Amino acid sequence: MKEAAVKQAKVVVVDDNEGNVLVLEALLARWGCSQVTSTTDSSTAVALCERIEPDILLLDLQMPTPDGFQVMEMLEARMKAEVPLPVLVLTGDVSLEVKRRALSMGAADFLTKPFDPVEVRSRVANLVKTRLLQKELTSHNAILEERVRERTGDFERAELEVLERLARAAEFRDDDTGEHTQRVGHTVGLLAEGMLLPAPTVRLLRLAAPLHDVGKIGVPDGVLLKPGKLTSEEFEVMKTHVSIGGSILSRSQSPLLRLGEQIALSHHERWDGTGYPAGLGGEEIPVTGRIVAVADVFDALTHDRPYKEAWPVDEAVAEIGRQSGRQFDPGVVEAFGALDHAALLASPAAGGQDSTQIPAREADRLVAVPDLERRIAAGSDLQLTAAEGS
Ligand SMILES: [Fe+2]
Repeated sequence: MKEAAVKQAKVVVVDDNEGNVLVLEALLARWGCSQVTSTTDSSTAVALCERIEPDILLLDLQMPTPDGFQVMEMLEARMKAEVPLPVLVLTGDVSLEVKRRALSMGAADFLTKPFDPVEVRSRVANLVKTRLLQKELTSHNAILEERVRERTGDFERAELEVLERLARAAEFRDDDTGEHTQRVGHTVGLLAEGMLLPAPTVRLLRLAAPLHDVGKIGVPDGVLLKPGKLTSEEFEVMKTHVSIGGSILSRSQSPLLRLGEQIALSHHERWDGTGYPAGLGGEEIPVTGRIVAVADVFDALTHDRPYKEAWPVDEAVAEIGRQSGRQFDPGVVEAFGALDHAALLASPAAGGQDSTQIPAREADRLVAVPDLERRIAAGSDLQLTAAEGS
């Protein structure tokens, strides 16, 4: 710390004795301090500190009301701030009790009257140096925090882009536009909003939902692209896209990918317990999977697939309604009923994934589903229904 910086520090002196004030001003001026403000009226001390924001306060204790203790009380917030205002107490009374009381109120040090020039200089210099170093450290920390925030934003943008491209890679197998995954993500966001889930959860679900069928990467063309109905053996192969998706996304450090893993594993479970792969029922199925199931099936029904033509919207909506309490969570179906169904067929704008921070805690809460892995490992032999998405 350069001495010049210390001499530029703003000093406030509060002492009802004008003689003491003059002595201190003279000593500080001789040392080269150029920004000294003094008062003999203690009632103006707090306002003076508010206005000047000093780097040190030289404060007498024995004064007419408010005395030094009362002034310190009023300055408590400044004295306990992140960069605290150092208060150098001026006192002729050096009794232990006075010292203890002043220290307990946050006084940084003492100057005994009559003043010794060397003592004044060294105490003021030490306290100001500490204050200026603390200021420097705080602003350095703020710069570092800002850099960390920027880097974190970069990583999250990259994570979202990789995630979107992964979903598109899977979708390319049977939909070269990749629009199904984006439409499902969009519908899932609307459903989650309709179910009054918190905004960070809605956003996470919208981002992770396009990964639901990522496991189709591992399903052979002969099955995935087969026109017409699958045989039961072929359907068994098709069902593996759920576990393949789960393993592609498994053990990720990313909360978003862990959420994607949960969705990939649970989006073909059914409310009545006859879905796959684990045969979970009702609220045992993660809410993420329950929401994606409705959005996925509606989109599959209303678009051409190798094995079927697109259904009219009203028929698809009626089928979703019929499956309430059977294939689907009635709560999700109710939220679905309130949506503008024709609008769901439109493709959401490309690159619709925003890049603000991913609320990791929210994702952790969503993926905390007991027993899911054990039940999935146990497996289940279940049948396909007419309204099954893929
Ligand atoms: Fe699927």
